[in-house]
Amino acid sequence: MQLIDGKALANKIQEQVAQEVDDLKSKHNIVPGLAVILVGDDPASHAYVRMKSKACERVGFYSITHNMPDSINQEEIIGTIEMINANPRIDGILVQLPLPKHIDTDAILDAIDPNKDVDGFHPCNVGRMVTGLDAFVPCTPLGVMKMFEEYNINLQGKDVCVVGASNIVGKPMASLLLNANATVDVTHIYTKDLKEHTSKADIVIVGAGVPKLIKADMIKEGAIVIDIGINRLEDGSLVGDVDFENVAPKCSYITPVPGGVGPMTIAMLLSNTLDSAKKRVSK
Ligand code: GUN
Repeated sequence: MQLIDGKALANKIQEQVAQEVDDLKSKHNIVPGLAVILVGDDPASHAYVRMKSKACERVGFYSITHNMPDSINQEEIIGTIEMINANPRIDGILVQLPLPKHIDTDAILDAIDPNKDVDGFHPCNVGRMVTGLDAFVPCTPLGVMKMFEEYNINLQGKDVCVVGASNIVGKPMASLLLNANATVDVTHIYTKDLKEHTSKADIVIVGAGVPKLIKADMIKEGAIVIDIGINRLEDGSLVGDVDFENVAPKCSYITPVPGGVGPMTIAMLLSNTLDSAKKRVSK
């Protein structure tokens, strides 16, 4: 069993991004800029946004966070997005999800300039990704693909089971796998017999948000298991969606939680924002 070290890979990518930021600054006087919109006071969302801002600082980006109260209305958020769309110092816009219930998330994502949509959630980028065109790709599934690349895991013809079909993780993950010629099986909360699907797969990728959902008897010997879940238990500990202790001995490769996919999500956000900033050079 080999651990896939997301933290080490994310650090390597951050160093590469920081180097490219230095070059962009010295050769073109361009500083990549990221704007984050955070609505409400969900502690987990605040923690994620803090981590994203710190990462921006580490690689030399310009970053601003718009903290908005829960009581804000949709038009005010869209007004702020339009202002950021027009700001030439900003290359990437990220609206931290989930948004409060009274806000229409689709209307908010639709307001983001697709050329600054570094989260890849705008329908324009989703469509481009599905058809295999150049697009901003959502950071978590993109991070998983980078892990496969780093560990020379070939996806062509592999049976891959994706557990969870969210717009942020499961659906884009399935598209990227399909584009890499894997055979993809997407399961979700209405799937009749989850084990029936996971136990046949060469690779199982789990983003369901259910602590220790995947048990040892649901995984085939020698399978690769990627755990996207981050769940905080009542005792304060962090666990994934996989029962790591019992599943790991059966795997050829597995990601830990923490230190697996989580750091890769942030590294990909930096990478997408850098790519967006580089397009300023040719303008
Ligand atoms: N909420 C959970 N994951 C994400 C993410 O990758 N991007 C944003 N914007 N919100 C999230």
